[in-house]
Amino acid sequence: MCIQIKKLIQSSILSDTSIKLPESLIYDSGNVQALAEELIRIRNGGKFRDSCRDVDEWKLMRELIERHDHFETHNVDLIRENREVVVLTGATGMLGSHILSELCHNNRFGKMHCLLRGESEPICRELLTRALRKRKLSGLYEPGNAEALEEKTVCLLCQLSELHLGLSDDEWISIVAESTIYIHTAWSVNFSLPLNSVEFENHIRGAHDVITAALSSKARFFFISSTAAVSANPSATITEEVSLDPSHASPLGYSRSKWVAERVSAGFTE
Ligand SMILES: NC(=O)c1ccc[n+]([C@@H]2O[C@H](COP(=O)([O-])OP(=O)(O)OC[C@H]3O[C@@H](n4cnc5c(N)ncnc54)[C@H](OP(=O)(O)O)[C@@H]3O)[C@@H](O)[C@H]2O)c1
Repeated sequence: MCIQIKKLIQSSILSDTSIKLPESLIYDSGNVQALAEELIRIRNGGKFRDSCRDVDEWKLMRELIERHDHFETHNVDLIRENREVVVLTGATGMLGSHILSELCHNNRFGKMHCLLRGESEPICRELLTRALRKRKLSGLYEPGNAEALEEKTVCLLCQLSELHLGLSDDEWISIVAESTIYIHTAWSVNFSLPLNSVEFENHIRGAHDVITAALSSKARFFFISSTAAVSANPSATITEEVSLDPSHASPLGYSRSKWVAERVSAGFTE
């Protein structure tokens, strides 16, 4: 869709020029107003992006890493069962609900702690059930198996930006003690928000706190990033390594927040 819109713009308002729009123009603009401003700038002979803004944001990306890449682990007596115990964020989302459905049906996994936003545990459970149903995924509500699956899934109310992810002390100690795998998918998939929004800083802080819990659990940690974190890397081949160069992220706040979070996540293995 983005590429089709870009082609339409190219062939309509820029057909009398030799300007070649980048494939990522729509995606990178983030919203209609930013796209319009970009097109006016280009029509008036300007460059594709305001490079001063990029330099400021690359500085902010480095500052965000510095603010969030120190981890203080906690000593909790670990409890290990035969089966894996998972902490999953973003289970109501598109990717998270598929992951949850897979985990529910795999005997290797004994329990899933889903960290969710909602006013109460029953509301969170309802949101989770709806998210699975909407995608025609069997999970909590599978006929004949509902009880077993319900028991495997624990819904916990979270505030990712708060201390200990907004969990009570007992909940936090309990997930840290039991969990062997952390899968962090929750993020604002919002292409209009700027990097300096409270929302993205909260997400970066949340990632930091999920990592802190995973380190305290001596568990494995999986961060769901995005190719947008490195899609502006000019190399023909992009290796599966954490990028050290902020200009590799596409210019969206979303992409840049993912680049920062990848760098923060790299602290997990250090
Ligand atoms: N979809 C894609 O094409 C794509 C591509 C590359 C990477 N990704 C990454 O994959 C992950 C999942 O994406 P998706 O497509 O499944 O997104 P989605 O459907 O929008 O789901 C996002 C999930 O994150 C949760 N979430 C958002 N903000 C939160 C917050 N402040 N606190 C707690 N939970 C919060 C949402 O919970 P609520 O239900 O409460 O809103 C929802 O469960 C994201 O990290 C995304 O960046 C997605």
